[in-house]
Parts: sequence; structure tokens; C-alpha cells
Amino acid sequence: MRILQVSAELFPLLKTGGLADIAGALPLALMAAGQEARALLPGFPAIVAGVRDLAPVAEFTAPWGERFGLRAGHVAIAGAPPIPTYVIDAPALYDRPGNPYEDTTRQPYGDNHRRFALLGWAAAQLAQGLDPGWRPDIVHAHDWHAALAPAYLAFARRAGGPRTGSVFTVHNLAYQGVFAPWHFAELGLPAPAFHMNGLEYHGQISFMKGGLYFADQLTTVSPTYALEIQTPEQGCGLDGLLRQRSNVLSGILNAVDDQVWNPSTDAALVQGYQTPEGRHMAGKARCKSVLQRQLGLAERPDAPLFIVVSRLTEQKGLHLVLGGLDTLLAQGGQLALLGSGEGWLEEAFRQRAAAAPTSVSVTIGYDETLAHQLFGAGDVTLVPSLFEPCGLTQMYGLKYGSLPLVRRVGGLADTVVDCTLEDMASGAATGFVFDRFEDADYDRALRRAFALYERAPDWRRVRGNAMRRPADWGTAAAQYIDVYQRALA
Ligand code: ADP
Ligand code: GLC
Repeated sequence: MRILQVSAELFPLLKTGGLADIAGALPLALMAAGQEARALLPGFPAIVAGVRDLAPVAEFTAPWGERFGLRAGHVAIAGAPPIPTYVIDAPALYDRPGNPYEDTTRQPYGDNHRRFALLGWAAAQLAQGLDPGWRPDIVHAHDWHAALAPAYLAFARRAGGPRTGSVFTVHNLAYQGVFAPWHFAELGLPAPAFHMNGLEYHGQISFMKGGLYFADQLTTVSPTYALEIQTPEQGCGLDGLLRQRSNVLSGILNAVDDQVWNPSTDAALVQGYQTPEGRHMAGKARCKSVLQRQLGLAERPDAPLFIVVSRLTEQKGLHLVLGGLDTLLAQGGQLALLGSGEGWLEEAFRQRAAAAPTSVSVTIGYDETLAHQLFGAGDVTLVPSLFEPCGLTQMYGLKYGSLPLVRRVGGLADTVVDCTLEDMASGAATGFVFDRFEDADYDRALRRAFALYERAPDWRRVRGNAMRRPADWGTAAAQYIDVYQRALA
């Protein structure tokens, strides 16, 4: 099958969150499974700079009349085949400071409807033969940024265009791409598309709803989240539509790219480590002491090191970490956080670090190398999310033996098994799980982590379980291929 992956980000070129990790890993996993995968990306500066051998393929007209170019090259990844990649050449839309979605003052760009409609539009053009050398059988669009692709394809098909299967994956239902109705005329969709049975959402235009309504198949990034988003509590206003389309909706758990996240080969670590059960784990102790020194924390091998690598947003539940910090410190723990996001959270964590610099380290910013070092050094990875479609950091925590402490929600519930006595006895336990989004529940999980840490042999056993948990892309790729086949049927 020829599969076009359409997303706004792709690791290692451009990343603001987990979407990029998945967009970078899935094409490789599909190629490894014998499929022909290509990527389509907007020409953001980091993407234009990172895609090798870019050459013009074609020109096309945007729905609002402007002409743009499509170029093609490849993303080179060490130890893997190159990913053939199309890039939309539209400097007027994409060549801007700030992140892909917002300007330097964190305001969404005023023309985001055009910037991301163009992504879906270019995907649909490729499906209709824009590149004479390659036409996809499947267009796989990720998140609202790419969500108009299935809508364009549905109307092209009605107009007698070629039959291309469309798959839409929700990585986060909370970000929907909602725009004022007067922009509809710029999108190049026929009037019937702006309807309750279409992308109209309370009088506005919702890109997300367009993807959910028009795609042949829908997926989200964990089985539990696939169920949660069908409820009013977690459906972000779209649960009705998701229930209506539940027969084409499935949850496929994200996996971990072993080339990027592997403690035995990770170049960011001072010393690699691998076999659990306490053997060959000296590297982890060394990672911890080196990081403690680097961050100005007391060099105490016996102090459990709690880590956070996260966007600082409401989703991630980090006020629970702030609320539980006194308990954590009183029991002799250390906290090392890396993140950026909402100003009040950045400030609150900064203050806590200033008050206790040898036991709390806070790095505000985005730092890929430090992220790896934190997983390498950490004993516990904190992910107390309010909601979590999948979550990758708890999976990196598992793989690096930095046991996840998570709330039982979304993909966190699907990937971490709490240290109950029975799950420890059966060898299933891999971390600490709490239920209610409340300080008291979080605190109890913290205390459970400390209690286990005191019992070194048990800790090592649970850490072994965590590090052995399979998270390979082969399984996920096979499930996606299944979904593609259904989209074509
Ligand atoms: P989300 O996509 O909701 O942010 P995930 O857990 O799926 O959450 O993915 C987050 C990804 O972003 C992980 O790869 C994590 O390591 C990375 N990450 C988050 N914040 C930072 C940061 N400040 N510096 C480096 N990497 C980060
Ligand atoms: C989103 C979600 C996160 C998920 C990631 C990759 O950013 O917030 O839970 O892991 O997408 O699918």
C-alpha cells in the first residue's frame, strides 16, 4: 500500500510534543512492515532546513487562489531508511518565528485556518495525482492540523475523483482548530460541508470535526482514550459524533522508537545500561549521580529522584506535583523538572527550585538531550494527567527504569500497572497508579513509591518488569495496516 502520512510536526525535524515522535516513527514502522510510506509536511523553517535534497515536484493553487509549490526530498534518520517526504513550499504562510501554531507572544496566528487548510488540501491534491510519479492509496491525517484532508477527499470522491482511503488519528481532542464561520469561503469546500453533518460546530468551523465526520476510519492513540472520548466528560463536545462513528473508531496504542529511546544505546547518557534485575544497571546509577551534579542537586544515590518532562499545561495535572512537593521533600526525595508552557506554572516551579536548590531543579525550556538524561537518571517519572490520549513520557520512563507514577486515565491506564501486592507477585506491576484527580490520591501514590523504594529487591523487580514491557512499533504498525485495509474496503 502507498500511504501518505500528513502531520504538522515530525521528529527529528520539528517537535512540540508527542505527535512529532509518532509522525517520525510510524512511517519507519510501516516501511519495516513492507508498506510504501511517505510524509507530507508544511514548509516550516525547521522542516525546509531538515529535509534533504528538496526538489520541486509541482505547483498547485490554494482554494483562495494563491499559487504554491510542492517539493520532495527525504528525512534522513541514522540507522533507518530515509523517509520520502513532501514539503509544502509556502514561505508567506510558514516562514515565521514562534512555534508552528503561535507567534512569539503565544498568540495563534490569525491565518491558521489557511495555514492548515493548505496541509489537508495538498494531501488531497496528491491523492488526485499532483505528483505524476506517486499517488497514495491511503491518506493518513494526524490531528486537527491535517483534518481537512478527509473532507477534501470525501468531496473529491463524490465528484468522481479516484478512490483514496482516508484515516484520521486524534492525538488530542482538546485542540480542535475552531475558526470563525466567515472563513469558510476560503477553504474550497462546497456549501453542504458547512453543516451539522460536516464541519459546522456551534456556528463555527471545526477542523477536528471535519476529520471526524469525513474520514473512512478513525483512530486514537490508546484503547482507553477511544472509549473516554465517547463520553460527555471527555468528548470535548464531540462525543455524540464519536459515538455515532464508533463502528469505525479504534484505539491503537503508541509505541516507542527503539532507535531514539533505548537506554543501552542512548548517546545522551554518560553510560548506557540494559538488563534489568539489577544486573548491568550500574550505568543508571552513574547517570543519576552525574545529573545530580549537573543540576546542582545533592549527590545522594539513596535519594529517590522524581522527574517531570512535560508541556506545562492544565492537561498534565502538574498542580498535583506542586501540592505534593512538601511530602516528596519531607521523605527525602528530589525533583528534577524540564518543561515549558503556562506562565503561572513556570513561575510556581521556579520559586520552588529557588527555595530548595539542592533538592528541586527546574529547567524551563525545551531540551531533547536533557529529556533523555532525566529518564536515564530518574527513579520515578511523574505523569499525573487530568486526561492523556496516550502519553509517551510514562513509556520512556518504563523503558529507562524510571518508574511511572500516573493517574488512571487514557493511555496511562493502558500502559502502567500499579504496585499492588498481587500484581507485584505476578510480575505485572510496573509503576504507581492513582484514580481520583485529587491531592490526597496523588499523595498516597507518592507514599507508595517511597515505601517500595525502601525495599530495594522489590524495587529492582518492578523496575525489571517495567524495562521489559514490550512497546515495539511492529504491533502498532500491524494494527494501522489493518485500519488502512478497512479504509480501502
Ligand atoms: P504531549 O504530546 O501531550 O506533550 P507525550 O507524553 O505524548 O505528551 O509526548 C511528549 C513528548 O515531548 C515526549 O517525547 C517528551 O520527551 C517531549 N517533551 C515534552 N516537554 C519537553 C521539554 N521541555 N524538553 C524536551 N522534550 C520534551
Ligand atoms: C498528544 C497527546 C499525548 C500523546 C501524543 C502522541 O500530544 O497529548 O497523550 O501521547 O499526542 O500521540
